[in-house]
Amino acid sequence: MSFAQQLGIKHPILLAPMAGVSTPDLAAEVSNQGGLGSLGLGANSVESARKQILDTQVLTDHPFQVNFFCHKSVESSAESQQLWIDYIRPVFEKYNSPAPTELKCIYPSFKDNDDFLNLVLETKPKAVSFHFGIPHPHQITKLKEAGILTLVSATNLAEARAIEKAGIDIIIAQGIEAGGHRGIFNPTFDAAITTADLVRLITQNCTLPVVAAGGIMNGQQIKYMLNLGASAVQLGTAFVQCKTSSANSTYRQALLNQPITQVTASISGRPARGIINHWQMEIDLPERPKTAPYPYAYDLAKQLNALAIKNGDVGYGAFWAGSNVAQIRELEARDLINQLILEMNQI
Ligand SMILES: Cc1cc2nc3c(=O)[nH]c(=O)nc-3n(C[C@H](O)[C@H](O)[C@H](O)COP(=O)(O)O)c2cc1C
Repeated sequence: MSFAQQLGIKHPILLAPMAGVSTPDLAAEVSNQGGLGSLGLGANSVESARKQILDTQVLTDHPFQVNFFCHKSVESSAESQQLWIDYIRPVFEKYNSPAPTELKCIYPSFKDNDDFLNLVLETKPKAVSFHFGIPHPHQITKLKEAGILTLVSATNLAEARAIEKAGIDIIIAQGIEAGGHRGIFNPTFDAAITTADLVRLITQNCTLPVVAAGGIMNGQQIKYMLNLGASAVQLGTAFVQCKTSSANSTYRQALLNQPITQVTASISGRPARGIINHWQMEIDLPERPKTAPYPYAYDLAKQLNALAIKNGDVGYGAFWAGSNVAQIRELEARDLINQLILEMNQI
């Protein structure tokens, strides 16, 4: 069975799951056009995740993937929180507001309990993908028994080998160009390999199919990744400007006005690539302390962003984008897919 047949898709193009940007409309539009739509559900409650999956199933009969975070949950000590809160405190005070006194774990991991697993088993999407790590063995077994395909992001060969060993079906090779969070399993270590090199490295050393992700914006780049040995590609940033994404106007404007990106761990506590704004320019100073751990730092960043917006400053938003964001096109998702296919066929 070919890779496309395995996933039930016509074109080797996957919409990247994007927490905060994915919508059932966008997922269904991509799936209806012959790609694999997706829902980034890592930031959702079980109930809202269920609603998004059911809504997508109403909008398309074609397959789509759902995505969750598989980070190792860490205890966040009061001292580590305090150090980070104290460092950011002057910005809260600039807006005449007290800094928070403690930070919350705003996103549970798929591994913390089986609530998300049970939701997937109940709603049966074609595939489920994971970021930041690998699910527990019993969770992989249950997904396999239900015939649901599994994908996990790898950013280096060691992670890819661990994914293969765990019995996952597909490796997503996430290069350093990728927008959004680095899928690194260990948040303190990033090999920062380019997408092309990672595809070469993983296809040469692993047997599982590889999906290339990171900096892919047009059909020529897709063809290049397929020629390197990737079975398909996964595009995120390219779809953020589509009408059916939930990106707000400030985010859309930032992508067009200042299409320069940098990785920062200051927003969420884990490294992620986004448009350069106050976080990279004013918070990531040489003397900055270690951030509070993920996702506790994200709780603070969201509070600060909401406060800054109230004061007319949009510079604390998380405008995730890949390093090739300057090549973004303002197209409807179905037109973008058609354009990508056209460009692939022109080669
Ligand atoms: C706005 C945004 C949100 C993202 N959210 C997620 C997510 O929730 N889960 C995930 O596995 N990957 C997420 N990613 C990373 C993508 O899966 C993918 O690796 C990346 O988009 C590929 O690079 P590109 O943006 O240059 O196409 C996100 C990326 C972006 C741009």
